[in-house]
Amino acid sequence: MNQDILNAARALEQGGLVAFPTETVYGLGADAENPRAVAAIYAAKGRPQDHPVIVHLAPGAELGYWASQIPPEAIALAAAFWPGPLTMILKRASNIDPAVSGGQDTIGLRCPAHPVAIALLQQFKGGRGGLAAPSANKFGNVSPTTAAHVREEFGAGGGVDMVLEGGQSEVGIESTIVDLSRLSTLGPVLLRPGQVSAAAIGQVIGRLPQAPDAAAPRASGTLASHYAPHTPVALLGTAELAEALRRLQGGTRKAALIYFSGMPPAHAAIQLPSNPDGYAHALYAALRDMDHAGADMILVETPPQGEAWLGVNDRLRRAAHGSGERVRALLASESNATTTAARPVASN
Ligand code: TXA
Ligand code: MG
Repeated sequence: MNQDILNAARALEQGGLVAFPTETVYGLGADAENPRAVAAIYAAKGRPQDHPVIVHLAPGAELGYWASQIPPEAIALAAAFWPGPLTMILKRASNIDPAVSGGQDTIGLRCPAHPVAIALLQQFKGGRGGLAAPSANKFGNVSPTTAAHVREEFGAGGGVDMVLEGGQSEVGIESTIVDLSRLSTLGPVLLRPGQVSAAAIGQVIGRLPQAPDAAAPRASGTLASHYAPHTPVALLGTAELAEALRRLQGGTRKAALIYFSGMPPAHAAIQLPSNPDGYAHALYAALRDMDHAGADMILVETPPQGEAWLGVNDRLRRAAHGSGERVRALLASESNATTTAARPVASN
């Protein structure tokens, strides 16, 4: 067993905070049964106390210890997708401290599919514990998909005791969240789209999860603005984007570009794969890189629509929420610029 993982498990048992890799994004973990440790996560992230966090479990963990009602649908979904990028919301067992649930009567449970996360969960409390772990970023920021991203978010004095290395997260966007806590009244509800699609869930449980309603539990990943870089972001259709870039070449503002088809040059640019899994895998690193490119705006070519792209489009919409209008205003003022001389452009 890797010594770092053993040290991390001991630090967590003593109430410390450890960031660890998962197949979706890196998590900031604490002992789910230690309310002070859970409070330290909220403090480090700058996250409101009433937002529930996901509890991560080792493979084969006893669901009945964490949840008071375990419908057959939950057992079937765990068998089909765990370890993997699916979080289930169930009724919280009375022995579990409400701090992990932000005071709600439910609990979010997931078994991650990353060898480092699994080894850590098996070492922590002999495999019988749970690690409360939201994404390892400051509240509202882009989620980290590498250990370096985590260190960028929580530098020295950031309140994190250890960051475990685990390479670049394979999936790249957060887990699908399905709410099974109100099955008898509402049926299954999809709270957050991810790599596990509603159709795939429907196939396993015989009922298609519905889109969230107004009464759905609070979920920070479901706020309109979230996963956002500091540079304003706009989503533009392919033709609109090409036109914006042509205008910017004669103007003063710099654009960083995330695209998947052929594009004219920009100040900085990253081409992402044109398949949804490859796009999701690279998306957050691309948003971070373009955020550091010294540009006035990040322009994103709107990806294709359709179910396989739901998770990606959901995260991009949140990244652009509230800043898309600002970018459009910048572009409009560029188009009025009198200078038409082409500026040197660097693309990478
Ligand atoms: O892929 C993921 O899910 C990553 C990795 C680290 O596992 N975690 C993650 O955690 O995205 P976080 O806290 O950034 O987002 C978890 C989402 C939040 O929107 C939270 O509100 C929701 O899950 N959630 C957790 N427990 C819940 C509950 N009992 N009821 C409703 N929503 C819950
Ligand atoms: Mg998050």
